[in-house]
Amino acid sequence: DASDIEKGTYPHYMLKEIDEQPLVMRKIIQAYQDINGDLAIDSDIVKAMNDADRIYIVACGTSYHAGLVGKQMIEQLAEIPVEVHVASEMGYNMPLLSKKPLFIFISQSGETADSRAVLVKVKELGYKAITITNVPGSTLSREADYTLLLHAGPEIAVASTKAYTAQIAVLSILASVVGKKADLDLVHELGIVANAMEVLCDSKEEFEKMAFEYFTVTRNAFFIGRALDYYVCLEGALKLKEISYIQAEGFAGGELKHGTIALIEDGTPIVALATQENVNWSIRGNVKEVVARGANPCIISMKGLDTNEDRFVIPEVHELLTPLVSVVPLQLLAYYAALHRDCDVDKPRNLAKSVTVE
Ligand code: G6P
Repeated sequence: DASDIEKGTYPHYMLKEIDEQPLVMRKIIQAYQDINGDLAIDSDIVKAMNDADRIYIVACGTSYHAGLVGKQMIEQLAEIPVEVHVASEMGYNMPLLSKKPLFIFISQSGETADSRAVLVKVKELGYKAITITNVPGSTLSREADYTLLLHAGPEIAVASTKAYTAQIAVLSILASVVGKKADLDLVHELGIVANAMEVLCDSKEEFEKMAFEYFTVTRNAFFIGRALDYYVCLEGALKLKEISYIQAEGFAGGELKHGTIALIEDGTPIVALATQENVNWSIRGNVKEVVARGANPCIISMKGLDTNEDRFVIPEVHELLTPLVSVVPLQLLAYYAALHRDCDVDKPRNLAKSVTVE
């Protein structure tokens, strides 16, 4: 049928969509460049950002995880405080809002009911909202004041991959255009990201081997990281859970010892991300703590911060943009873990691509 044709030579949409990520990065750069080649965002959106004293990011699932990364980018580059909220909670648990709030809804589909319910409230209160979505004309796009598109092309696999990286890329562009930081050449840096993603997509055999090594027999797995790596760990754990049904959790490296370390047994896989220079030695200390309890460590580090105990080293990219690259190994590990365990990769049980009920 038509969907088989679209999949081309790929066995699954998820693998195709993982592979599309370098191209999506390049499309996003192009879509947000002005005639001089500089990154540009609609001036009304930039004004709304500059008028705000606090930004509230609202999203669900993978889009929420992209929002956490976006918070770091907006706070560091645009210097506006940001809160990130899960839409289903915010519906009845609205935080005390600042005087001049601006809302950013992140939704691949633009149709998620929980996010829409918050948007309706926000509009009733008379506040402005931006929707970041992959679907022009979607409900959240129509009902918000402004839209930023992801340009990722249709995402068919239930487990979101290219939409996550597209959301982060668009958030980085928004943050940098508003922040006007002279020392960041984001077009150049996102180009480096696209190349690094390509290197990772070309290393599939290695990730297939690793998935076999770590995830064939285990019943659980932990992902640990600090700073930006922590947020990527939440997404890596979600990917593994969604499609391989292995119970997986992402933790801040320093928080593990306050409870979760009790779950570590002989051979428990621990994936640790080490892409952030300022916490490199602390996260490695956390790995030692779990190894001493029998864990089977899988350190994925970034070139320049690597040591000879690392299982995989990703190419070096700008330190704020590491999530765009470090998530790719985690997507591929989840994919191959699901394959090894004979799971339905594109249509995992109990999950829907777009959740239009509360
Ligand atoms: C569903 C999907 C997830 C997605 C979430 C939010 O649960 O299975 O992959 O992250 O909805 O979807 P949205 O379209 O709002 O980004």
